[in-house]
Amino acid sequence: MLMTGALVAGLISVVLGIVLFTTIPRHLGVWRFVQNNLWTEGIGWAPSFHHGIPWGYTWEEFHQQDLTGKTALVTGANSGIGFDLSFSLAQVGASVILACRDPQKCSNAKSKILSEANPKGTISTMTIDTASFASTRAMAQAYAHEYYGKQQPHTTIDLLFLNAGVMRLTDWNRDCPSKTDEDQIEVHFQVNYLSHYLLYRLLEPFLSEDARIIPTSSGSSFQSFSYTVATDLETLHRCDNGHFNLGGANLAYGQSKVALILWVKKLARMLGPDSTRRVNAFHPGLVNTPIVEKILASGNLPAFAANVFRERMSSTAWQSPDGALTGLYLACVPAEKGIRGRYFHPMAQEVVNPASLDEKLQDDLWAFSQDLVKDYLAPIEIPVAEEEEEEPTTSTTEMENGVDTAETTGTDDDNGETGEDEQEVDEEQS
Ligand SMILES: NC(=O)c1ccc[n+]([C@@H]2O[C@H](COP(=O)([O-])OP(=O)(O)OC[C@H]3O[C@@H](n4cnc5c(N)ncnc54)[C@H](OP(=O)(O)O)[C@@H]3O)[C@@H](O)[C@H]2O)c1
Repeated sequence: MLMTGALVAGLISVVLGIVLFTTIPRHLGVWRFVQNNLWTEGIGWAPSFHHGIPWGYTWEEFHQQDLTGKTALVTGANSGIGFDLSFSLAQVGASVILACRDPQKCSNAKSKILSEANPKGTISTMTIDTASFASTRAMAQAYAHEYYGKQQPHTTIDLLFLNAGVMRLTDWNRDCPSKTDEDQIEVHFQVNYLSHYLLYRLLEPFLSEDARIIPTSSGSSFQSFSYTVATDLETLHRCDNGHFNLGGANLAYGQSKVALILWVKKLARMLGPDSTRRVNAFHPGLVNTPIVEKILASGNLPAFAANVFRERMSSTAWQSPDGALTGLYLACVPAEKGIRGRYFHPMAQEVVNPASLDEKLQDDLWAFSQDLVKDYLAPIEIPVAEEEEEEPTTSTTEMENGVDTAETTGTDDDNGETGEDEQEVDEEQS
């Protein structure tokens, strides 16, 4: 009896070892089978799941692009996926504005791109803290001054990557809800989603006519609260949502990511089927980036669990450049394909999250978001260059919300303290 038990335990250990620590299941297509039949939302999560499936977009295709003359703005550009988006865009000729929280890290990222990507366009840096509406507005204001108002011809944004993001393993029972310091909004909701909503609204007049707007969402968008996304403050800050210690924080991250997909669908509806602007979101996959250490630092995992997490990420996840590729696909996919208001997993595979299809929820989220940022929404002031009469493009969302965008050169800001600080903009011709 004892002998049989030991044999069974040994056998289970061997099978588990093979499944978890060898590439045999991958080559046998086990993970592909799991993805196709048991966990369809897991499409493209990791290389094992993708094994044997042709890539919907390849590096060869991307490197045939010539984005000379295009300008990209990337939030969270100093690290991980944001850095690799910026690096790759610079490689194919785009001018890239790196928007980061930490100016020093931004400058380091810029130096690396200048020395290694052989860029043809300009690489410049700006500062934004998406945990702060004032900082987000200040960045939009600085953009209007430095890139739009002072330049002839104006620089408009062709590719807007809303990528900055955090995930915290806070103990939901002890630290709930975890709020941003200045604005007192649930951290994931503001950093990952809400400030990007605000940034888009402020930068909309400065987007080119055929701009692509590309938020970095996540497969975690499938793991949110029962109501998918809060549309009032009381629900957003409820503390009985986490069923176990780390669950609440994880669901809050998922909520911020499904919010981005709901937003993409709402914005695509508002822009309308004839708009030449395109908005689509992507999940980069499970990617081994510096976020791994940041997540671990935010939690209280035992050293053993942390080491297993690290090891699994380094050996089974996508590497950072590949995590950027689906976002680059959305930047470059020909307009004729009519891709708008959609969501993709690696490598350029469309996935539908049923929870994101609820149009009433999309509308309610938009209204809730607008209400939360209303004090920061006044049109950005643009210094008008001499002899210049041209006005920026009319904002579709502002039209829908009844704001006269002809006023974008005026200063209607009834909140004089919000984000009018000048930023230093650091630009260097490569
Ligand atoms: N890696 C994955 O497996 C994975 C999977 C799904 C989705 N994502 C999403 O992909 C995006 C990029 O993540 P990553 O994996 O590349 O992680 P990362 O290397 O940590 O990059 C995150 C970027 O966001 C910036 N950021 C964080 N908080 C910010 C704030 N308050 N204001 C401005 N910038 C802020 C970070 O700046 P600092 O360097 O200063 O912290 C960093 O530049 C995130 O939205 C993440 O949720 C990642």
